Amino acid sequence: MVDPTAGTAGPRLVVSGGRRLSGQVTVSGAKNSALKLMAASLLAPGTSVLHNVPDIQDVRTMQEVLEYLGAVVEFVDGTMTVDTTEVQSHVAPYELVQRMRASIQIMGPLVARFGRARVAMPGGCNLGPRKIDIHLRGLAAMGGEVRSDHGFVEVTATKLRAVDMFLEYPSVGATENLLMAAVMAEGTTTLENAAREPEIVDLCKFLISMGADIDGAGSSTVRVRGVTEMRPAEHTVLGDRIEAGTFLIAGAVTGGEVEAAGISPHVLDLFLSKLRSVGVQVHENTRSIRVSGDPDSYKAVDVATLPYPGFPTDLQAQMMVLLSLAKGVSMVTENVFENRFGFVDELIRLGADIRVDGNHAVVTGGRSLTGAIVQCPDLRAGAALAIAGLVAEGSTELREVYHIDRGYERFEEKLRNLGADVERIGQAGAGACF
Ligand code: UD1
Repeated sequence: MVDPTAGTAGPRLVVSGGRRLSGQVTVSGAKNSALKLMAASLLAPGTSVLHNVPDIQDVRTMQEVLEYLGAVVEFVDGTMTVDTTEVQSHVAPYELVQRMRASIQIMGPLVARFGRARVAMPGGCNLGPRKIDIHLRGLAAMGGEVRSDHGFVEVTATKLRAVDMFLEYPSVGATENLLMAAVMAEGTTTLENAAREPEIVDLCKFLISMGADIDGAGSSTVRVRGVTEMRPAEHTVLGDRIEAGTFLIAGAVTGGEVEAAGISPHVLDLFLSKLRSVGVQVHENTRSIRVSGDPDSYKAVDVATLPYPGFPTDLQAQMMVLLSLAKGVSMVTENVFENRFGFVDELIRLGADIRVDGNHAVVTGGRSLTGAIVQCPDLRAGAALAIAGLVAEGSTELREVYHIDRGYERFEEKLRNLGADVERIGQAGAGACF
């Protein structure tokens, strides 16, 4: 048994396994959309309003970034107003970028509106090197002058011009930065092999309501006709598909019945079809998804992560927990990030049988897990370890839970509402990187 009073400073979660989850969880607004919408508000002077913004650490960090630039931000009950009238600075300092990589998404909007952005280089992180070369190549092709010195990258341009660009990889961040740069560029920009994530569609909807002229959002070819000015707008952030997937797996591993509301099932098509192949029963409604199942009947399946509409890398760790219970041998292939199996050693400490070779993990399922002390190496892996704790015999103590707080709103409260036995110990802290 874990002694929750022993050990480390900082917040921890103690999960006692064995409860079957049941009930409905309403998903929050998508982290990966909200952060970019906040950045996009920089494109127009005046006050933009965002609804359904999740109150998570990453959103608070992006708020700090905007305030550092001179914006006035208010955030009450999920509604954020961002007044960018007084924005003067064009610099994102190391302390903020290092805390949250998505700070680099201010580059496109700042260059578009002010002709200048200076952003600390994000460097590597737990998931590998995570380059930004495609962002920079795109901005350079649009006429930006790109320099780097003293750990910063600076892009300047008197006027951005449109570009036809084939992205060598459908990077989510690069697609977003280039879209935001292109909205006021001279001429029509065409991005080919663009990322197609639902969060990009959400960003394009917001940009269009700000006055942008965009076609093809959600397809791999996006066209942006430059306009002369953008205006503030109001928008509601779409639901978080990764949060939905996380809670659906939590329900499935416990053999319970969990419904995730506030999400359209089609954004999780491949994920849901993999759940069905495992043997989980999945019921889709227009704006919700319900799962139920018997873990004793679950079977192995192979999973390979890919850009949307492929299997999301952000659900790979959680899926690995489900596959550790499913009978048979599953192969999990991580194609998006170089280093996303860092949590596997922690899962092995709970009793999972997983061998990693490069970007492949071979999971021999049908295992019983037992509680232990584990460290959360990153956001999604942290959620996966909490899910493992739900089915592990005894208590599992998660350390470094600030990672979970970066991206999940009221995580343990939502789990508790479904019947989980989860307790938080210690004070909130700050995170780093992802
Ligand atoms: C976003 C999401 C993250 C998700 C990921 C992939 C946010 C805040 N984060 O991250 O949760 O896991 O999409 O769905 O929205 N790459 C390059 N050069 C570049 C840009 C990217 O080589 O210029 C590589 C990266 O190293 C990585 C891969 O492309 O291996 C995917 O990165 P990208 O799609 O850009 O992910 P992010 O936008 O960083």
